[in-house]
Amino acid sequence: MSAPDLYPASDAFRQNARVGSREAYDEMYRRSVEDNEGFWAEQADRLDWIEPFDTVKDVSFDADDLHIRWYVGGKLNACYNALDRHVEEGRGDRVAFYFEPDDPKKEERRQITYAEALAETQRMASVLKDLGVQKGDRVTIYMPMIPEAVYAMQACARIGAIFSVIFGGFSPEAIAGRIRDAASDFVITADQGRRGGKTIALKANVDAALKRLGEDSEVRHVLVVRNTGGNVTWDDRDVWYHEATRSASGACPCEPMDAEDPLFILYTSGSTGTPKGVVHTTAGYCVYTSLTHEITFDWREDDVFWCSADVGWITGHSYIAFGPMINGATQVLFEGVPTFPDAGRVWDVVEQYGVTLFYTAPTLIRALMAQGDDFVTRHDRSSLRVLGTVGEPINPEAWRWYHEVVGEGRCPIVDTWWQTETGGHMLTPLPGAIDQKPGAATVPFFGIQPQVLDAEGKVLEGEAEGLLVIADSWPGQARTVYENHERFKNTYFTAYPGTYFTGDGCRRDADGYYWITGRVDDVINVSGHRMGTAEVESALVLHDAVAEAAVVGVPHPIKGQTIYAYVTLAADATPNEDLRAELRQHVRKVIGPIATPEFLQFAIAGLPKTRSGKIMRRILRKVATGEHDSIGDTSTLADPEVVDKLITGRR
Ligand code: WTA
Repeated sequence: MSAPDLYPASDAFRQNARVGSREAYDEMYRRSVEDNEGFWAEQADRLDWIEPFDTVKDVSFDADDLHIRWYVGGKLNACYNALDRHVEEGRGDRVAFYFEPDDPKKEERRQITYAEALAETQRMASVLKDLGVQKGDRVTIYMPMIPEAVYAMQACARIGAIFSVIFGGFSPEAIAGRIRDAASDFVITADQGRRGGKTIALKANVDAALKRLGEDSEVRHVLVVRNTGGNVTWDDRDVWYHEATRSASGACPCEPMDAEDPLFILYTSGSTGTPKGVVHTTAGYCVYTSLTHEITFDWREDDVFWCSADVGWITGHSYIAFGPMINGATQVLFEGVPTFPDAGRVWDVVEQYGVTLFYTAPTLIRALMAQGDDFVTRHDRSSLRVLGTVGEPINPEAWRWYHEVVGEGRCPIVDTWWQTETGGHMLTPLPGAIDQKPGAATVPFFGIQPQVLDAEGKVLEGEAEGLLVIADSWPGQARTVYENHERFKNTYFTAYPGTYFTGDGCRRDADGYYWITGRVDDVINVSGHRMGTAEVESALVLHDAVAEAAVVGVPHPIKGQTIYAYVTLAADATPNEDLRAELRQHVRKVIGPIATPEFLQFAIAGLPKTRSGKIMRRILRKVATGEHDSIGDTSTLADPEVVDKLITGRR
C-alpha cells in the first residue's frame, strides 16, 4: 500500500483541541477576516496593559504612506507579561525552563522557575541600568544557548532598551556590521559557548569585532557572563556580570512602553546588499506570538514545549523568549547540538523531560533520519503530542519519517510557514482542525490573507502557482527596517502595490492548501537559514585572488539547499585545490560557518553575462545542478562559449 496523501487530525486529539474541527477553524477564520479589528481587539486581552489602546489598527500598505501600527495609544511592558504577571498571579513555582547543557557530564542540569527567572532578569536589568543603558538604547546580544541569553532579552525589554541578538555562529566581521548598523552602545556576551563538546570563543569574537570597528565603535561597555570559565582578554570597557551583580539592586521596575515602541531589531538576509535590521514593536508582537504559540501547538499549561531553534534566529525570539513565556509555558532550553554525544540526543531529551510539543527544522529531521531509526526508537517518546517544523519546505519523505517513526503515527505535524518579517506563524495546519498533507503548510492562520499572484501582479484564483503575498496586516508584522524605512518599502511593498511581498513562491491546490515552493529572489535557504547571494559574493571578492564571484543555491539532501560559488580569479592567482580550500575558509571567516560554499568552481573563461554585463544566474543554476540539457537560450550572452567551459569545469 502506498503512503497516504492526507493525514486527518486524530479523533482522540480533536475532542480536547483548542480548535477541534475544520468547521470551527472556518468559522473563526471568517470572523478574523471579516471583523479583523474586533478579532484582534479581543486577542489583546491576552496581555496585561498599563494603559488601554484607543485604536486597534492603523495600517496603510500604500507605498506613499506606508505605516503599520497596532494597538495605538496602549502602554505595556513585554517583560512584565512574560515574567512578573505569572509570579504575581501565583504561578511563580511553575518551571519556566529545564536547562539541558551541552554536556551534562561537565555541566549541571538546571530547573528554573518563573520566580527565579524573574529574579535573574531583574538582576540583569539592574546591572544594565547601572552601566548607563537607557530606554531606546540598542543593546547587542551575542550569547550561547544558556538561560542568561533569555534573561538578557527580557532585561532589555524590561528597561525599554532595543535588543539586537546576533547568532553565536556569526563571525567578528558580521558582528561589527550589525553593531555599526544599529549604532549599538552596549554588548552582552559570554566568555565562551559550548556546542558538541567544543568551545566557541564568543568574547574573543566580540573583541575582534570591536577592534575592526576601531574609532567607529560607540560601544561603551561589554557585559560578560562567565559561562565556561575559559580564558578571555580584558579591556577597560569590559564588565564581568557576576561582579556587577554584587553592587546592583535586586529589583528593577518595568518601563511603561508604548505599544509601538521597538522591542528588538533582528538582522536577516535579503537578495541584495547587507542584512536588513528588521524591527518588531512591543504590543502586536506579544499578542501575535502568544496567540500563535497557543493555537498552532494546541498548547496547555501542563505541556512541556521544546523549540530547538537558537535564540539568534526569529524562531528563538518568538517561540522561546516571547510567545511561550507570555503564555507561562514550561520549556526545554538546550545548549548543545542534536548529534552530540550521538544522534539519539534529541530523543533522550524528549524522554528525560517528557516533552509534549516539539518544534524543529526539516534539516534536523533529515540529518537524524539518515542515522537510522534505532537512535529514535530506543527512547520513550510517548509524551509527544504535537510535532512542528519551520524554516524551509519539508520533503514528504522526511515528513512521513517524522510522523511514523518519531511520532509513532500519533502526533499531528504542524508545518509552519513564516518569516523573520512576519513575527509569527502565517500558514500552518491546526492540530485538531486541519487534515495534513506531507509538505504543505496548508491554511492561513487567523487574520492572515494570503494571495497568489502571477509575475505581472494579477491575483490568481483557485488552483494556482505563483508569488505569495499577504493582502492585509497582522499584529506581528515587522514595522520597518532599522533607520531605513525606504528599504523596507522597496523590499516588501513596491513590486506588488497594496500587499506585503514575501519573496516566496507557492502553489494553492484544489483544496485551497498552500505549498511553499521556495524563494523567488536571490536568497538561499541553507539548513533553514537565510543567506543572501550578494553577501557571499561580497565576502569572496574581499579576497585578493578573486576578481569576480557569483553564487547560487543548489538542492542538498540534508541541508535543503547548499551554496555553489563561481569565481573568476585575479591575473596573478593560480586555480588549484589550495586556493579553493582557502577561499571556502575565507567566506567562513568573513560571515560564519553557515555561509561556507560547499562547491567552488573556478570560472576560468569567465561568467555568463549579457552584453550589458548582467550575470545570468539562471544559467549558473542550471550548470550547478547539472541540468545541461535545459539551459535554454544563450544567444543573448556576450560570449555564448563560456557556457560549455562552465559545464566542463562543473564541481
Ligand atoms: C522559508 C524563519 C517552507 C521561506 C521562520 C521563508 C519555509 C524563509 C517554511 C524565512 C515552511 C520558513 N515551509 N518554507 N514551513 N518556513 N520557510 O526569516 O522561504 O529565517 O521566506 O524565518 O524560510 O526564513 P526566516
